[in-house]
Amino acid sequence: MGTFLCLILLLLFTPFSKSQPERFRRPSGGARQEYFEVGYPPSSHDPPPSCTHRILHHSFAHTIDLPPYTTPYAPPTRCPAPWSRVVLLFHARCKGEQYDRIAALWLAGVELLRTSTAEPTAAGIFWNIRKDVTKYSSLLLQPNLDLTMMLENVVNGDFTGVYHVTVTLLFYNQYSVRVPFVPCPEALNSVNPIIRSSSRSRSLLQEPGFSGVTESPADLIIPISDDGRRGFWFTVEEEKRSCSRKIRIPRNTYRAVLELYVSFHGNDEFWYSNPPNSYITANGLDTKRGNGAYREVYVTIDGQVVGWEVPFPVIFTGGINPLFWEPMVAIGAFDLPSYDIELTPFLGKVLDGKDHVFGIGVVKGISYWLVNANLHLWLDHDSTVVHANPVVHHSPETSIERQEEFKGLDGAFDIDAEKETQFTGWVITSAGNLTTTVSQGFSFKNFMKFQRNGSLKTVKQKFKAKKKVKVIDGRGESITRLKVRRRYPLRVVTNTQQFHDGTYRVVTDISHSVKEKYVSGCFVKSINNEQNSKGWMEVKGHSVLSGQASTTQNYSYVDRVTCYSRNVAAANGLIVADNSTFVCAHCEETSPPSESRNSLGVNKQGSSTCEGKYHKA
Ligand SMILES: *[C@@H]1O[C@H](CO)[C@@H](O)[C@H](O)[C@H]1NC(C)=O
Ligand SMILES: *[C@@H]1O[C@H](CO)[C@@H](O)[C@H](O)[C@H]1NC(C)=O
Ligand SMILES: *[C@@H]1O[C@H](CO)[C@@H](O)[C@H](O)[C@H]1NC(C)=O
Ligand SMILES: *[C@@H]1O[C@H](CO)[C@@H](O)[C@H](O)[C@H]1NC(C)=O
Repeated sequence: MGTFLCLILLLLFTPFSKSQPERFRRPSGGARQEYFEVGYPPSSHDPPPSCTHRILHHSFAHTIDLPPYTTPYAPPTRCPAPWSRVVLLFHARCKGEQYDRIAALWLAGVELLRTSTAEPTAAGIFWNIRKDVTKYSSLLLQPNLDLTMMLENVVNGDFTGVYHVTVTLLFYNQYSVRVPFVPCPEALNSVNPIIRSSSRSRSLLQEPGFSGVTESPADLIIPISDDGRRGFWFTVEEEKRSCSRKIRIPRNTYRAVLELYVSFHGNDEFWYSNPPNSYITANGLDTKRGNGAYREVYVTIDGQVVGWEVPFPVIFTGGINPLFWEPMVAIGAFDLPSYDIELTPFLGKVLDGKDHVFGIGVVKGISYWLVNANLHLWLDHDSTVVHANPVVHHSPETSIERQEEFKGLDGAFDIDAEKETQFTGWVITSAGNLTTTVSQGFSFKNFMKFQRNGSLKTVKQKFKAKKKVKVIDGRGESITRLKVRRRYPLRVVTNTQQFHDGTYRVVTDISHSVKEKYVSGCFVKSINNEQNSKGWMEVKGHSVLSGQASTTQNYSYVDRVTCYSRNVAAANGLIVADNSTFVCAHCEETSPPSESRNSLGVNKQGSSTCEGKYHKA
């Protein structure tokens, strides 16, 4: 499917260089235990699948500088499609001494999961990640594909931890209903306008998934990725170099969404706390963690910017203070978020049956970022050529303002960035003229303050984004209306005290969160996920000698029929409290106690009593 082109082929892998003062190895000790990332649905709530299918089983020992592990994939013969839902279950275990590692799983070059590992203990740790992968169904249906996993690890005299990984797919032929399904009157009317011939691509509107899938999976997914010799991700080492791939798109495509996967490492692992280069130079510091604290990942088609994202700051398990992330890892560390970029308004550029260059780059990025994307395409089965044209294209540059003031090692740095854009384009399909308008914008603020001769560092970051996608038909009637709002604030305060024997003591206080609201027709989903950590550690080099830490996490998931919340508290590597409920706490306060609500927080009429009350934002 076309040729790939990556301007930088140099893969620089720096597992533990001296210039990474904020990446550490946890002390050994502790009993064998399970690590986890808090999310929805809890595994106890998953119904039994129609069949399970093990697709990968491999041990990652000294894999650095080796090609990724590849194994053949075929769908299960025991439960043929159509599937109403597919869940990927990633199981890993490890024992010994090891750093955290980045990893990814690709099927025919299409990324299914970006993940990072937890740092093991002498007694051993294990964890399970569940991810709904129904959106990749068109690919999961195909036999004779290669499944590839990259996890570069170092095993030698010092580092003994081998990561043993098993990946299983759980297929559901018929959605096993546990949560009562409440049909959405509006959604039932706004069924996908394209009449589909094949049964597999029927609308999922009548079969709600846990993730609230309100649309059918794409018919075709094309990877925008590297050639796979060193994993399918592109390595971005600097701002000026973008990576790209030439692809050809079927001429009957009527919808396109690009799903972007990113992770940041090396000198940009903590990009949100990088000072400007002027500060580093003036103080004669030898760190390469510079370029200020703003990054933006962008996507281009034939050189024109068509999408962008300021990524959520995922903290890996060795990051900032490894004692914070055991046994509950930081938000997104096991299941890194991917970002959807609606490209339908740009179809007019690419439906000519010719090759087009899709590129990905990082504004202000320094070594190194691992980026690639999946291009999800929906095809009009009743026509061979869809005509498309852009109508409005308003995309100014991101406005970025920077302020800095410093004297010696103390100072204050401010960055404000924002962007508002609108794109409109139409496609003539067998169902008529569909016009898609995407309006989106974000605001980003980063404030950094260094005090007490640079030993007290405060980072406060705010990010807010909104996106609206509206599709109307030829008569001007609304077909789709999607609204997404996201916020991810972050605050990190670090106080470092250095001792004569070369050890130092770091006291840290972190809070970070994700608040997300997704509205599509009458389907509403909101997630509020917040984590606070406090503690100290004594460090020599990159090894933590001792310390104390506590983390609390409050998670809530609310949609039309479900209210789920979980509050967990961990201290010094152990869970000290773990409360979860399917009752809407805030509803309990606002509505009189009634018999009509069952344990799922749903009343007998079948509509949620708490919709819109949980999140005031
Ligand atoms: C499709 O609809 C848009 C507006 O909704 C209009 O501007 C465009 O001309 C239409 N295209 C055709 C080929 O009629
Ligand atoms: C500040 O730190 C620098 C480098 O660590 C050191 O050389 C200098 O003496 C310190 N200044 C004060 C006032 O402590
Ligand atoms: C979670 O909720 C508890 C009790 O309501 C509160 O004490 C704690 O600070 C919260 N933690 C976070 C991370 O929001
Ligand atoms: C969990 O519930 C118990 C009892 O209701 C309460 O004492 C504790 O503070 C709660 N913990 C969290 C983390 O919310």
